[in-house]
Amino acid sequence: MYTHGPMRATCTILGIESSCDETSAAIVVDGRDVRSNLVSSQVDLHAKFGGVVPEIASRAHIERIQPIVAEAMEQADVGREDLDAIAVTDGPGLIGSLLIGVTAAQTLSLAWDLPLVAVDHIEAHCTSAALVKPDEPPWPAIALVVSGGHTSLFLVRDFLNIELLGETIDDAAGEAFDKVAAILELGFPGGPAVDRIARDGDPTAVRFPRTWLDKDSLDFSFSGIKTAVLYHVHGPGHKYGSLEHLSRQALADIAASFQAALVEVLVKKTLRAAKRCSVARVVLGGGVAANSALRAELKSGCDEAGLKLILTPMEYCTDNAAMIAALGYHKFKAGQTAELGLEPRSGLVRTKKIKRRK
Ligand code: KG4
Ligand code: ZN
Repeated sequence: MYTHGPMRATCTILGIESSCDETSAAIVVDGRDVRSNLVSSQVDLHAKFGGVVPEIASRAHIERIQPIVAEAMEQADVGREDLDAIAVTDGPGLIGSLLIGVTAAQTLSLAWDLPLVAVDHIEAHCTSAALVKPDEPPWPAIALVVSGGHTSLFLVRDFLNIELLGETIDDAAGEAFDKVAAILELGFPGGPAVDRIARDGDPTAVRFPRTWLDKDSLDFSFSGIKTAVLYHVHGPGHKYGSLEHLSRQALADIAASFQAALVEVLVKKTLRAAKRCSVARVVLGGGVAANSALRAELKSGCDEAGLKLILTPMEYCTDNAAMIAALGYHKFKAGQTAELGLEPRSGLVRTKKIKRRK
């Protein structure tokens, strides 16, 4: 039981996010006024391994979590007495990484006698678009969440009512970008590198497969296209090898063609979801939302279908604590606080909490 003081006119939440390789803390007032949002990326630590190394990630979170919380509070000019609750990502993500954020939040909750709110990372990606239009939450909407760890479509009815419509059955879209970048030796993280070189390429140069799955399916599959790129580059049955036989233009054409195939599937399935659920708005979240082709194609697809596309600024698309504090506010207001003994859950596929539409 929290012995928290009388209700104030405003509600200030400290958000903490550590589910993957970004340590982040934010102060958000009333679920929409972002007073600070600090993100410490570990991308440099993982680059030489070509992917996130869980043990390195947790160690870096341990070093960074306390200073980043202190700095977020200082930047927002907020003290413990100004806070109403602490919201923390409890999953899904890397278990060792989640554990650091959750432990920090529990410790502060106990020391400062503040309620704890557990926030689902993917639900926060779905609702982060509300940080753009504060006075008018963009619901109901279809949310396309595309990152290194997830590729899913949701029907967001409101902050606390989110339904899963479809998800990847194998690789996430960002993972496909990262793997194709590795095949083309473009570096890590691969998404931005593929996006960059693709600008000089012809998206119709190579016809890579589009995987639609069942006729009406809203699920995704991206493992086939990654193999198709590998075979195109090195021939069937070959593993990664020298790229000497390819010119820079050929690499750009492959990158652009891969990107076009992946984006076409993402856009068509998002439009299909909007039609099926009869909603007029689409929101986009996750790191792959930075992709220039995805933004452009989704915009023109939505325009054609008479849908409103809400593009969240990139700082709220990639992993950040502001989206955790913002959704934490709505959960807190609805009385959805967590036990102090809250345990993180890796839940790499999907949370049970999000019910799936039949
Ligand atoms: O949301 P995020 O920062 O972290 C999680 O995975 O949760 O997303 C990172 C992913 C990486 O796979 C990265 O390659 C991809 O987003 N990404 C992009 C672009 N920028 C980042 N993919 C395609 N095009 C981009 N411009
Ligand atoms: Zn994420």
